[in-house]
Amino acid sequence: MPLHRRHLIDVADFSRDEFDTVLDTAVSMRQVLDRPIRRVPTLRGKSIVNMFFEPSTRTRVSFELAGKSLSADVINVAASGSSVEKGESLVDTFHTIQALGADMVIIRHACAGVPDLAARHLDCGVVNAGDGLRGHPSQALLDLFTVREHAGDLEGLKMVIVGDMLHSRVARSDIWAFARMGAHVYLSGPPTVLPPDFGNLLNGDGMVRVEYDLDRAIEGADVVMALRIQKERMAGGLLPDLREYARRWGINPARLRRADRQVLLMHPGPMNQGIEISSEVAYGEQSVITEQVTNGVAVRMAILYLLLTGAH
Ligand code: CP
Repeated sequence: MPLHRRHLIDVADFSRDEFDTVLDTAVSMRQVLDRPIRRVPTLRGKSIVNMFFEPSTRTRVSFELAGKSLSADVINVAASGSSVEKGESLVDTFHTIQALGADMVIIRHACAGVPDLAARHLDCGVVNAGDGLRGHPSQALLDLFTVREHAGDLEGLKMVIVGDMLHSRVARSDIWAFARMGAHVYLSGPPTVLPPDFGNLLNGDGMVRVEYDLDRAIEGADVVMALRIQKERMAGGLLPDLREYARRWGINPARLRRADRQVLLMHPGPMNQGIEISSEVAYGEQSVITEQVTNGVAVRMAILYLLLTGAH
């Protein structure tokens, strides 16, 4: 089934079929990456511009590798070194990128809504690589892919996401994606950064629940995802000190034993080891954190392929 979209701005309005389309396409893309020569000519002649106005390692590099594996020309633009530094407006920058002939622009920005703004001003496709606190759709897709590879089906899985929900674009996108695919999503973390109404996401249909007691939330979980503690939030008094946070909401071996024996441990990265996740479990048997990073390339190849080949 084709993806009837030109842009990937958010996953909040994705249907199950659309998620499946991207995930199924990513399976084929991973086969390309498993070959001795990891390149196909599918997007030869297309130009992809990576515009990252915030730091990134995983997302930026994997979009670059994804584009190059499909034989597209990939150009990287960072805020520092671009004319934005000289005061050029974002809209003027978009018009400039358009005039240079881009077929796809991939944008990360600290402000929510910048990818929507780009989509309004550009004739080419736009992919949101993380905007403010709003969304990180390609991360949600690679997280779904990683779990589906292990579990086969997402329907009925118990997933726990733990951390600062209020300031996490990854959490927002993952909650939508996993709940839409039939998983039961439990949210845990300090009440100051986990408002009770997060349980009403997806129209309060019971797929998303808030449980402040992590030991209770994690009981029998199939998937546990720890979110990065954004230390800058602590200054505002929103989070307890790091030791207290690790004690109550950190993922460690004892806590993980309360989950299902086959539990998958995830983290979108970058990690603060010893705070939201202990070093023993971060690279332990149950961790799929490195797989998440690897799968990011195949999933982003699928996104670029589906949006750029007119399969919409
Ligand atoms: N998960 C994620 O977005 O990582 P980067 O900030 O390194 O891209």
